[in-house]
Amino acid sequence: MLRGRFITLEGLDGSGKTTQLKRLAVWMKKRGTTPVVTRQPGGTATGDRIRDLLLDSRSERLAPLAEMALMFADRAQAIAEVIEPALSSGKAVLCDRFTDSTEAYQGGGRELGSDPVLAMHRVFCGGLQPDLTLLLLPSLQASLERARRRNDRVIAQSGKDEGRFEREQEDFYRRVWNKYCEIAARDAHRVVCVEGDLNIDEVHQQIIEAVSVRIFEATNG
Ligand code: TYD
Repeated sequence: MLRGRFITLEGLDGSGKTTQLKRLAVWMKKRGTTPVVTRQPGGTATGDRIRDLLLDSRSERLAPLAEMALMFADRAQAIAEVIEPALSSGKAVLCDRFTDSTEAYQGGGRELGSDPVLAMHRVFCGGLQPDLTLLLLPSLQASLERARRRNDRVIAQSGKDEGRFEREQEDFYRRVWNKYCEIAARDAHRVVCVEGDLNIDEVHQQIIEAVSVRIFEATNG
């Protein structure tokens, strides 16, 4: 059995990742490859509980190292329960965020640096790497505005305040942004960057081009 392909989507809060992930899943399905879709943090029952802990604005005193450890606890569970079983049974996996998020947010944003993140990745994820990472990088300003609007909507609809990250200062996001750029330059063989303030269709187009070339054509020949 041929191992499935592992695709991750990355970007700042409000970069439009989730919309693009859904569209990509539909496109892949039409091509005869129905992916397993998951997200981090979350995606398993244990992971959803970790997610609530992490994203709730009330966890304000969470130490950066504790935050990083929880991200990896969530990820280890997702790999064991969802990702690895799917890949080894030949299914493609589409994952909304993976270790690049930890490197960008905890390594960059929280200034823990890349080294502890990469070391934990080796231990907790057994070095599992995506075959392709789609990094959405609209301008920082556009991303921040979208994230704020979305957070206000979530609070209004559910009363659930997931806005701890969105409330961080702009320089936090700038550090996250810079770290993402660093990762893209370092891991250019796996990371495809979709840059600029493009509309949803334009981003989707670039994504399916990358997936066609790097996943489908690579698999077929
Ligand atoms: P989520 O609501 O899933 O946001 P988005 O739709 O933008 O992905 O929230 C995930 C938040 O968690 C987001 O602010 C990024 C952050 N995060 C980290 O800080 N480190 C990580 O390793 C991961 C996976 C997410």
